[in-house]
Amino acid sequence: MFPRDFAWGAATSAYQIEGGWQADGKGPSIWDTFVQQKGRVFEEQNGNVACNSYQLWEKDLECIQQLGLTHYRLSVSWARLLPDGTTQHVNQKGVAYYNKVINDLLACNVSPMVTLYHWDLPQALQDQGGWKSESIVSLFDSYAQFCFQTFGDRVKLWITINEPQVCAKCGYEDGIHAPGLKEPGTAAYLVGHNMLRAHAKAWHSYDSLYRAEQRGAVSLAINSDWFEPLRPGCNEDVAATERDLAFTLGWFAWPVFVTGDYPQIMRSAIDSQSQKLGYSGSSRLPSFSKDEPAPIFGTADFFALNYYTSRKVKAGEGCGQMLCLNSDRDAEEVLDPSWPICGVSWLAVVPHGLRKLLKYIKDTFNNPAVYITENGFSQVGPRQIDDVQRCEFYSDTIMEVGKAIEEDGVNVRGYFAWSLLDNFEWADGFSVRFGLFHVDFSDAKLSRTIYRSGLEYAKMIMKYKGRHDVK
Ligand code: GAL
Repeated sequence: MFPRDFAWGAATSAYQIEGGWQADGKGPSIWDTFVQQKGRVFEEQNGNVACNSYQLWEKDLECIQQLGLTHYRLSVSWARLLPDGTTQHVNQKGVAYYNKVINDLLACNVSPMVTLYHWDLPQALQDQGGWKSESIVSLFDSYAQFCFQTFGDRVKLWITINEPQVCAKCGYEDGIHAPGLKEPGTAAYLVGHNMLRAHAKAWHSYDSLYRAEQRGAVSLAINSDWFEPLRPGCNEDVAATERDLAFTLGWFAWPVFVTGDYPQIMRSAIDSQSQKLGYSGSSRLPSFSKDEPAPIFGTADFFALNYYTSRKVKAGEGCGQMLCLNSDRDAEEVLDPSWPICGVSWLAVVPHGLRKLLKYIKDTFNNPAVYITENGFSQVGPRQIDDVQRCEFYSDTIMEVGKAIEEDGVNVRGYFAWSLLDNFEWADGFSVRFGLFHVDFSDAKLSRTIYRSGLEYAKMIMKYKGRHDVK
């Protein structure tokens, strides 16, 4: 059912696990700043220590081995490597840390997948305008090239930017993630635009300067729910579903995989809303110029998908007088009452939605190789090591992935569970736990204990890997 070289992984990100926020010359990131502001994070918690993976990496490696992973997805912290965000000043201790992580993984036969940007922009770059400023494009490219050059002899799977849609919307529209800006209806589109350009520039650099020698692959991790019309026979619901898909998956996938530009549905929705509200000037959704120095189309060597949940969609209410992303999108999302919600409120558990989304990706984006770079199940309230529901979740989900491969012919190359460890879950702090290992944040040792779901995942990996060994 799963190809022989299928990647069985788990994922984490630097800010969520590393701690060591000021250790050994690391510069501050926008999350270091954000968590210091009152009311931003659950109970004013922060990632200053988190899982302390900066010091306890070897413990993480034990977890990785206990699961029998073939791959591990981590992110590198830009400000740990380049404290002011530029290559003018390299923090050698940061380089040494990631060298050790990568070398240790390889020594254990685990392949690293490395994300360059998992939301932790160096504060020094935010001070110069951050993702809203076009200058970020070449700064990101220099950082990416620095990483390719430093680690690319050993790292063969790269993600430039994790979830640009969430980054842009939560950070610049809703203000619930760093840098906490609320500039609805404009900033998120600009940030998304610069992220696409930065991604594309880094991909082109890899392609022209490093690919021949390093032979790796580069993509960006695109998040999407699966959306389907609430009333399949209702044209308005069908149209709203298409808009929802365009504003989530399409926003970043369409330019990279289809046309080099945003989905037409998205642009016309934004422009018609601007017109309705008397917003003058050029489109709030920026355009790529004809001679973009780094063209966007074709800048992904595989499709990296983060999938968590599904939504039914009905036509919106036109969303009145607000100039914002939700009113542009004009779609109302509802939950199907049959979908269980077992942890954090947004995460309805819908494993079959993943299969449908994979099929949609195959059909829409010309059958790309797909890595599911994140998928997981959360726990809130008292810790439950015997997490039966999460066990079921993983086995149901992996079954759906198997069907997508076998019955729908989707070229799925790997699956990464989110997450290896309980960690700092952004604005929810430590109150929401996604780990395959529990981390005891009340204990100075931050001891890691495998959940039952970790044991089950390990068994599944063994079973599916084993099948091929027999063949
Ligand atoms: C993703 C994000 C991860 C993790 C996960 C669970 O959007 O990339 O960092 O927090 O959601 O909420």
